Amino acid sequence: MQVNGKHFRTIWLEDDGWSVGIIDQTQLPHVFEVARLETLEDAAQAISTMQVRGAPLIGVTAAYGLCLALRQDPSDENLERAGEILVDTRPTAVNLRWAVESLRRAIDGMVGQERVEAAYSKASHIAEDDVATCRRLARHGAELIFEVADGKRGEAVNILTHCNAGWLATVDWGTALAPIYRAHEVGIPVHVWVDETRPRNQGAALTVWELAAHGVPCTLVADNAGGHLMQHRKVDLCIVGTDRTTVRGDVANKIGTYLKALAARDTGVPFYVAAPYSSIDWKLEDGLLEIPIEQRSGEELTQVRGMDNEGTMRTVSIAPPGTTAANFAFDVTPARLVTAIITDRGICPASREGLASLFPGRF
Ligand code: MRU
Repeated sequence: MQVNGKHFRTIWLEDDGWSVGIIDQTQLPHVFEVARLETLEDAAQAISTMQVRGAPLIGVTAAYGLCLALRQDPSDENLERAGEILVDTRPTAVNLRWAVESLRRAIDGMVGQERVEAAYSKASHIAEDDVATCRRLARHGAELIFEVADGKRGEAVNILTHCNAGWLATVDWGTALAPIYRAHEVGIPVHVWVDETRPRNQGAALTVWELAAHGVPCTLVADNAGGHLMQHRKVDLCIVGTDRTTVRGDVANKIGTYLKALAARDTGVPFYVAAPYSSIDWKLEDGLLEIPIEQRSGEELTQVRGMDNEGTMRTVSIAPPGTTAANFAFDVTPARLVTAIITDRGICPASREGLASLFPGRF
């Protein structure tokens, strides 16, 4: 996608052929800064501090993290250790485990330099595949927007989204925002209601930034505004991303997603989840019981970081000193509240049968 007229992806291999460049998302929207990862520890830290975030992107970062680890020591023991460190950084998104396992399979039985080269080749393949997957998902999901647009006689289609599931959450294009970019590209008028997404404000900081950069009209709303907007018929459809979707269609996504799905059900607004195949956990059935929910530092709730009127980045407290805060980063929306899942292979009901119709080889 474009940043100030220049094409960027969120992650890339540097010209030296081994170190890894990323956009440092903790600085957005105020400063566009890139960072360089040179070691396994750099990659693990970039994921846990959320310099990179979004399920597909952390998967790709983990794949490159393994390459950086193998460059220093290509042994099986080091590969095992590095995989564990990376998978532990963020527990909810299944893409991390998927990327680590895919890369490990690709280099199984190899040794030394051949192993390192094969690892880089696989990591690049995972990154390219993510872009192609999101493009396919964009085309399928856009059909849903076209259908609504047909009934609106030129008025904008209003879409509500939560968190950031745009190109910043993937290598390029995004998941939930990809169909919106596609519709915008072909001239369908769209308008996006962007949930601010407390506590880290991915909606306010990232989704608004990337939509605005592409000229997609959007309006930032407080996290609790979605229900009101839906009651007043100001939302035609909701599209959100997912960090892990089970075989029966339960969906883990950023905390607050479930409440939007409840409001959508009550008001009859369709609620779609955009899930690339790498976000589907083929081993899990019951999302509520089985998906691990990441808990992050309470400081993300008691403090807010932003730029003051003089242009200085500051962190300020918004709760009394010593406040106990519980920071659950994700929640699970049961399949029964999901109208359909948008995948890279098409759109299906959020059910075992639905997913099996698109991914028969997995069942
Ligand atoms: O905590 P984050 O910012 O990594 O959470 C991101 C989300 O919840 C996204 O909706 C999800 O990863 C899907 S991204 C394509």
